[in-house]
Amino acid sequence: MNVMQRILIATSNPGKLRDLQGAARPLGLQVECIPNFANLPLVVEDGQTFEENARKKAEEYSLHVRGEVVLADDSGLEVDALRGEPGVHSARYAADEPHLADANTDDEANNAKLIREIKKIPPEKRTGRFVCVIVAAQDGKTLATFRGKAEGVILEGPRGTNGFGYDPLFYFPQIDKTFAELSAEEKAKYSHRGAAFREFLAWYRVNSALGN
Ligand code: IMP
Repeated sequence: MNVMQRILIATSNPGKLRDLQGAARPLGLQVECIPNFANLPLVVEDGQTFEENARKKAEEYSLHVRGEVVLADDSGLEVDALRGEPGVHSARYAADEPHLADANTDDEANNAKLIREIKKIPPEKRTGRFVCVIVAAQDGKTLATFRGKAEGVILEGPRGTNGFGYDPLFYFPQIDKTFAELSAEEKAKYSHRGAAFREFLAWYRVNSALGN
């Protein structure tokens, strides 16, 4: 049996799924959402770090698909001049108190808040990075953790229409584009999620070979 064929992802975020499929496609791998994911009990992301949240999601969701390797990603944007915020609160940054909010706020509202905040910062200090932590779990236990990042500059206005979340505000100097100006293949190549996923693949190749 070739266990490389299917990898299950614990996410309801179509943008994340698209990114991971973009990273997996050139390698002939199939990445799918956990079947019936929308009807599974929601895992509360109340951790203080990306690792804690990714681990919690991967472990809890893997209990619903016994025997399968499940990946969960926790990710966000760290802005240096905002002391690392929105960080783990990226998905609910527009809430009045992001650290207390239990529901996500929409991308438009999050981006509007980031624009307001970044305008208060001198242009040369608008650096930040996307961070992604992927945890692989099976039957409720973490197997391994992988991390990727992408360094960039926060813009005070959107550019591009691809992607999701903060992509239109994240300028990536290396190729003179925002993440919302990248194709799925380019995003997989340059993004934090693509980097973390490649780390996972290197690990998976070795470990699935051991399991065969
Ligand atoms: P969570 O990992 O589900 O907690 O949500 C991560 C949040 O960080 C998303 O809702 C986005 O706001 C932001 N984010 C993470 N990765 C990306 C990305 O690749 N592009 C744009 N925004 C991202």
